[in-house]
Amino acid sequence: MTADRKNDHVRLAAAQQRGPSGHNEFDDVSFVHHALAGIDRGDVSLVTRFAGIEWGAPLYINAMTGGSAESGEINRGLAIAARETGVPIATGSMSTYCADESVAETFRVMRRENPDGFIMANINATTSVENARRVIDLIDADVLQIHLNAIQEIVMPEGDRSFFSWRSQIERIAAGVDVPVIVKEVGFGLSRETLSILRSIGVAAADVGGCGGTNFARIENSRRTGPDYSFLGDWGQSTPACLLDAQGVDLPVLASGGVRHPLDVARGLSLGAAAVGVSGRFLGTLLDGGVDELIDQITAWLDQLAALMTVLGAPTVAALTHCDVIVLGDLRLFCLDRGVDTRSLSARSVMKTEEGCAECTR
Ligand code: FNR
Repeated sequence: MTADRKNDHVRLAAAQQRGPSGHNEFDDVSFVHHALAGIDRGDVSLVTRFAGIEWGAPLYINAMTGGSAESGEINRGLAIAARETGVPIATGSMSTYCADESVAETFRVMRRENPDGFIMANINATTSVENARRVIDLIDADVLQIHLNAIQEIVMPEGDRSFFSWRSQIERIAAGVDVPVIVKEVGFGLSRETLSILRSIGVAAADVGGCGGTNFARIENSRRTGPDYSFLGDWGQSTPACLLDAQGVDLPVLASGGVRHPLDVARGLSLGAAAVGVSGRFLGTLLDGGVDELIDQITAWLDQLAALMTVLGAPTVAALTHCDVIVLGDLRLFCLDRGVDTRSLSARSVMKTEEGCAECTR
């Protein structure tokens, strides 16, 4: 049953990738072009730091799969791509391993193929502290991701219906494991209210996991035979909306959900994400083109991100948060209602320069 679900998720998520890539709210974020802002490519560093963690690049392969023979093979390919490109990677939910040890190898393969890489183990918010420690030990994880997926669960025929204990259980896990805990959504977004709660219960960072990409309300709806849930197809906040909403919350944020290309990565970083995660897009490449194509894609994205930072005059990931951006469309309306000041984003490089910001070149 679980193995079938894992295989369904891969098949249906990959099918979503093969559809038209279309508009999402990342398109509502534009950099103001300053023709004399450019710096030298050699002066750009992709290193990013957050919550005491340092990564060589602000891009990671986000949680997807494991728990079936097919998904173990996918994890092997993803882990090889992570090793060859040096990007961090997350497992899919290891809750399946907690229930059935026979699937251990479908996760352990990621550490075997990537012995020195940065690997995040992934569990759900009902996992016991003991099982959280077991999954960390199984793959010698550097970080524990806990996913929040209430919308997916209610649409999933076999999904959970009890969510009240999630907050206290996350707090217990965060206090009971000896690696940093990152809480992530699976594509419906984290509000600033949720981020504040996460901060107060000992979470090290949050991945806002917004909508605009892989859509688990639609995936689960297409798997069910009972009453239709297609009205939830557009539920949630987009990734850029979450990042804008998070301004001022004192918790490091990562961005994933709907990231289609290196410009989306730069947009996410400019809105305050310490790093940007990709699932569906990389899964599609792996399944259609194989591991070599995925390695080429990630390598190209990192190079293209550095190129964008060069023309934007941002020598560091942090410096991207001083680049001027314009927020348009529905995203602007969201900001208006949530009291997020978009105007200050559009001229912040000048403001920062006047204040003497060392990282700004203009
Ligand atoms: C996922 N995602 C996911 N997330 C998680 O925390 N645990 C999981 O087990 C899974 N499983 C999973 C399977 C497949 C096939 C996909 C494509 C995705 C969600 C993923 O980490 C991410 O939050 C969303 O996919 C949104 O990002 P993209 O796909 O739009 O880049």
